[in-house]
Amino acid sequence: MTDVLLELGKNPLARKLVQSAKLPIPMPQRLSRLSGARAERFLEGQSVLVSGAGQLSDVIARTLSRAGATSHLDSAALAQAFAPAAEAYGRPTKLVVADEGAAAAQAQAFVVDATALSGPADLKALYTFLHNYLPRLARSGRVVIVGRPVEEARSALVASARAALDGFTRSLAKELGGKGSTANLVYVSEGAEERTGAVLRFLLSHASAFVTAQPLRVTGLAAWSGEDPWSKPLSNKVALVTGSARGIGEATARVLAAEGAHVVCLDRPDDDEPLSLVAREIGGQPLLCDVLDPNAGALIASELKKLHGGVDIVVHNAGITRDRTLARMPESNWDQVIGINLEAVLRITDTLLNEGTLRDNGRIVSLASISGIAGNTGQTNYAASKAGVIGFTRALATQLAGRGITVNAVAPGFIETRMTAAVPVVVREAGRRLSALGQGGQPEDVGRAIAFFAEPGSAGVTGQVLRVCGGALLGA
Ligand code: NAI
Repeated sequence: MTDVLLELGKNPLARKLVQSAKLPIPMPQRLSRLSGARAERFLEGQSVLVSGAGQLSDVIARTLSRAGATSHLDSAALAQAFAPAAEAYGRPTKLVVADEGAAAAQAQAFVVDATALSGPADLKALYTFLHNYLPRLARSGRVVIVGRPVEEARSALVASARAALDGFTRSLAKELGGKGSTANLVYVSEGAEERTGAVLRFLLSHASAFVTAQPLRVTGLAAWSGEDPWSKPLSNKVALVTGSARGIGEATARVLAAEGAHVVCLDRPDDDEPLSLVAREIGGQPLLCDVLDPNAGALIASELKKLHGGVDIVVHNAGITRDRTLARMPESNWDQVIGINLEAVLRITDTLLNEGTLRDNGRIVSLASISGIAGNTGQTNYAASKAGVIGFTRALATQLAGRGITVNAVAPGFIETRMTAAVPVVVREAGRRLSALGQGGQPEDVGRAIAFFAEPGSAGVTGQVLRVCGGALLGA
């Protein structure tokens, strides 16, 4: 569905005219997105400004240098920490100087290592660095701040400084949204430093175009062999995506296939035609099945075993809405939504685990929704089902961590699909505009987040709910 304001904004003259009308909403900026697979050197030729010589310097240096970036560093200590990686990957580093002025190169990203914060006074360095250099951030730029978890702080002083990063990042994201840029925060547990690479790659690349104002946590909870391929990370993996005849499921199947996975595409028997087309185009296989069928789990497990000996990535995407305020909601609306969005997810997962179909080091990613976090009028059934998915995700992550299986959820905000095309126009406009980026997301934005969770290198991220919502104000 066309976003008139976004289309208008592509013309500089029209953009100026609309901005001069001083609408109480951000003029949306066209977002840069990936096409196809993410390149290994996704920051080739780009400048990245780095501040804070904390405990993550080494991982940050390796990630930026291998991705092809030129790192501009704000201290001699940081230059020393970056030297081995910069040399290994043949990437130059520079010391950033405050009076470089207008001649200074635009930066694609800023990375701040705030892991060494010892109290609120240390936050001043964060202010100073970003205050001085932020005007250099390019459109569709990235700010990534890395800190230590509040719960692991040994004093209230340290805890307060770590927690401050959250409010800071969320506010900064709102300020940057008009440029199509994002700001996100990564809390890295002690000992989990090596697991941060995949998270940095996702947040610094255009794969995370619609992810902003989000905290992600990296922990040592799930077992990990250290496997972390950078290009085509899903090669040799078998993925199941439910509800992949259209919308987010179709886009997810396409992204997973582009990143190397063999995808089994599942949808209802009625959707044979569009499903088969998607499967054929990505070299995958269609599987016709209604997830509500009590035998769905057994059918899926036996097909996956017969065809591929098992499955590595399971994406629970099939979902429906049947909105009515609670007093007017027919019982069938309640039953269908809870049945498809929640009970089928639990039942199918149970069977795949009991039958030994999901392999060790596997990945489970389910579709939640910001409605399941914030609630929404007319969606008691839908929000309950999606909040239930979040509970399932958190509980199962702990249970399966020993096998190296991660369990995560993606909570989309307003995404342009058939589901949202059906909502009344005023609600649709509010859904698009009331966010940091001032626009709806594309189905592939959600697919990219799912592909990130599916990577072998994402083992540090489990039990989490990542909002792909463009910084929606709802429930923020
Ligand atoms: P969609 O309606 O475009 O696609 C959903 C797909 O699931 C369809 O192909 C449909 O046939 C399939 N499906 C539904 N019931 C099924 C069943 N019983 N068995 C097998 N397949 C079934 O929806 P969209 O927008 O792509 O949503 C995908 C997921 O993302 C859903 O879980 C939805 O709740 C969630 N979501 C979507 C948001 C959005 O803005 N579009 C926002 C938040 C969450």
